[in-house]
Amino acid sequence: MTNILTVADLGPAGIAEVLALAEQPDLGRPLAGKGVALVFQKPSARTRNSTEMAVVQLGGHPVYIQKEEVGLGSRETAEDVARTLACYHDIICARVMDHDDLVRMTGATAKPVVNLLSDKEHPLQALADVLTMKQLADNLQGLKIAYVGDADNNVARSLAHACLAVGAELTLASPSQYRLSDAPDGVRQVDDPAEAVRRARFVYTDVWVSMGQDNEARERMQALGPYQVDEALMAKADDAWFLHCLPARRGEEVTHGVLESPKSAIWRQAENRMHAARGALAWVLL
Ligand code: CP
Ligand code: NVA
Repeated sequence: MTNILTVADLGPAGIAEVLALAEQPDLGRPLAGKGVALVFQKPSARTRNSTEMAVVQLGGHPVYIQKEEVGLGSRETAEDVARTLACYHDIICARVMDHDDLVRMTGATAKPVVNLLSDKEHPLQALADVLTMKQLADNLQGLKIAYVGDADNNVARSLAHACLAVGAELTLASPSQYRLSDAPDGVRQVDDPAEAVRRARFVYTDVWVSMGQDNEARERMQALGPYQVDEALMAKADDAWFLHCLPARRGEEVTHGVLESPKSAIWRQAENRMHAARGALAWVLL
């Protein structure tokens, strides 16, 4: 039994195994007759739908649970929610405001707990990102990737750990106050977006204001304004693919033109969320 709270929980070997599983469309029905709880404290389009369909593809029954229904940390403690859901389900997946709630859930149940996004990490997104890069670039070893914008968020943190684990070279470009905290050794952090994208084969960005950060919107928009991924920045990269976890704020972190360009891989990336989720759920059951 394994949890996936962070990319580090997988490690290089686990990531390789999940990617190999994700590339197989039919993994049988390891979840036949079993339930998977999907708890969401925040909105979701991709994560909810891709994980739900991954459970169906593995023969299981997904139960989508909105935040009011369980009241994680308000109606009931994280531990009691986990114990309750473990009575009915074989895997507990949750999107939470506070990463520590996931940690507490793992301490309360022997069933696998999977992070569907926390303030700290978004591991299933990073698995889909690496799968997408593998499909488009063949060799991940030494692959140059640039991430431009808010580098101190969940998506950037998971991407950084995933890139290191597969041997890719990631450079993060952000204003100094939005640099990735606790960055793993081997990830470069710079101020200048042009420096980050030089020779990059993939340019990645995410929203400047993540869910739960609305009270910081004004200062974030101001500081991150010069970090928009536009056509001029993409032209400085190496005929690079554009990536974004979505949802995107057109005209903020990325232009409409870059999102819609022939080098935008965002819909492949979105589809890969389902394949990566199928691989990840099969892996936690191994
Ligand atoms: N990328 C992602 O996690 O999207 P949702 O918030 O729509 O799930
Ligand atoms: N960093 C974003 C990712 C959304 C998928 C957020 O947390 O809102």
